Amino acid sequence: MLDQVTKVHDEQRQGEAFSSGEQESLLYSKKFYIESYGCAMNFNDSEIVASILNGEGFGATKEVEEASVILVNTCSIREKAEQTIRKRLTEFRKLKRSNPGMLVGVLGCMAERLKSKLLEEEKLVDLVIGPDAYRTLPALIAEAGTGQKSVNVMLSREETYGDISPVRLNSNGVTAFVSIMRGCNNMCTFCVVPFTRGRERSRDAYSIIREATDLFENGYREVTLLGQNVDSYYWTGKEEGSTGAEETVTFAQLLERVAQISPLLRVRFSTSHPKDITDEVLFTMAKYENICNYIHLPVQSGSTRILQLMNRTYTREWYMKRVDRIKEILPDCGLSTDIITGFCTETEEDHQDTLAIMRYAHYDLAYMYYYSERPGTLAARRYQDDIPEDVKKRRLAEVVELHRQQAQRSMQLDLGKTFKVLVEGTSKRSEADVFGRNDQNKVIIFPRDNHQKGDYVWVKVESCTSATLIGKVVMPEYAE
Ligand code: SAH
Ligand code: SF4
Ligand code: F3S
Repeated sequence: MLDQVTKVHDEQRQGEAFSSGEQESLLYSKKFYIESYGCAMNFNDSEIVASILNGEGFGATKEVEEASVILVNTCSIREKAEQTIRKRLTEFRKLKRSNPGMLVGVLGCMAERLKSKLLEEEKLVDLVIGPDAYRTLPALIAEAGTGQKSVNVMLSREETYGDISPVRLNSNGVTAFVSIMRGCNNMCTFCVVPFTRGRERSRDAYSIIREATDLFENGYREVTLLGQNVDSYYWTGKEEGSTGAEETVTFAQLLERVAQISPLLRVRFSTSHPKDITDEVLFTMAKYENICNYIHLPVQSGSTRILQLMNRTYTREWYMKRVDRIKEILPDCGLSTDIITGFCTETEEDHQDTLAIMRYAHYDLAYMYYYSERPGTLAARRYQDDIPEDVKKRRLAEVVELHRQQAQRSMQLDLGKTFKVLVEGTSKRSEADVFGRNDQNKVIIFPRDNHQKGDYVWVKVESCTSATLIGKVVMPEYAE
């Protein structure tokens, strides 16, 4: 599923196990198994963890039974996500009974939210490590190995893991995530992320360029720059060893620098907050053919009153104006969103406003949820979770149905069009076909012929399903 979306939540990718492959695992005497949940940033963190552990002589394995350490990189965004993970931890605890030397560690957002509760009350695990404490993981594993319960959930204002090269696990060798910042300062009232990930901080621009350049030199052809709110990226500093003055890099400038690495390297980014996406970013996207015309712009609700309660800091009209501007500057830009139904006090009228804004924006893709109260968030403290579950779910079903119709229409509008596609791998449906994505992030399947992963080809769309375009190569475009 990683092939199909760049932005991924727990519903899309649950419990994917990472492995760095058979060969590499032979190099290491100790083995760890890691399973990841949640957003792309969490998956990227697992790659950082793998890099830290490799440095300490641990190799990744896909076989949970052969691991001496099991790590679960967790998500707290909705209650359902946490329930799924708890069930999984119970399974690992059973496994531990037959293998008492095995250690089970919880990483990520649930670790940060629940802290030592996971060790004490629930006795599910041996190690608890928050998202800013991964450098201490080897020491904590050693400590836990002596029978002590180990916890480090310190959040940091500086940690970006900027100097660590993630080990690309389970990678297709063509597309990769690059984290450009951590944390979030926005305090949307429904959201647990500011509590689990801490304050926002931007990663050294030079380390980002270095990582993206290395990826390109190793055959990768697409990077997705990741952050909870990429448009507020803002880095001040200077290149290591430089004696010159400090410089400041904004998101638009970073985007430009990454795009300049090579016209053959596609650049994507996620997530944009509607209050922060600037015209400068849109103009930079227009200027570089290799910055994909695709924006994930979560609206959450179409009602200004609800947006205020959510502390999103924009109104319905502001959002619509941003959509207008995107379509003005980037007429063929793909647009996707996140929507929450049944937030505190939401009326039928508010809900109708959400449906109306969907009709206005014509989203190509949407991630839709019903509101799940998260302990400790501003909404949990200030408001009553007063919309009955059946109403939340009914409204969600209406939002999903409207989106289904809109997405289908968006696919049909592409029939007969020709797109530049980056080949990513073999189609799941047939060995005779390959798949890739167009600029707008839509998956296109077409006959394999001689096309290799990493090639750019021009594909004419002949038919479609609800989620996939199907076509034929009309012009191969060679890299050299
Ligand atoms: N930083 C991103 C969102 C990260 S969380 C942004 O600002 O858009 C991904 C999505 O999960 C959110 O956009 C929101 O739609 C959803 N979400 C977050 N908290 C939620 C909650 N308590 N209940 C339901 N959905 C939630
Ligand atoms: Fe959560 Fe809002 Fe930050 Fe996104 S911008 S991570 S929704 S607080
Ligand atoms: Fe989940 Fe944490 Fe990401 S709560 S969505 S894993 S930042």
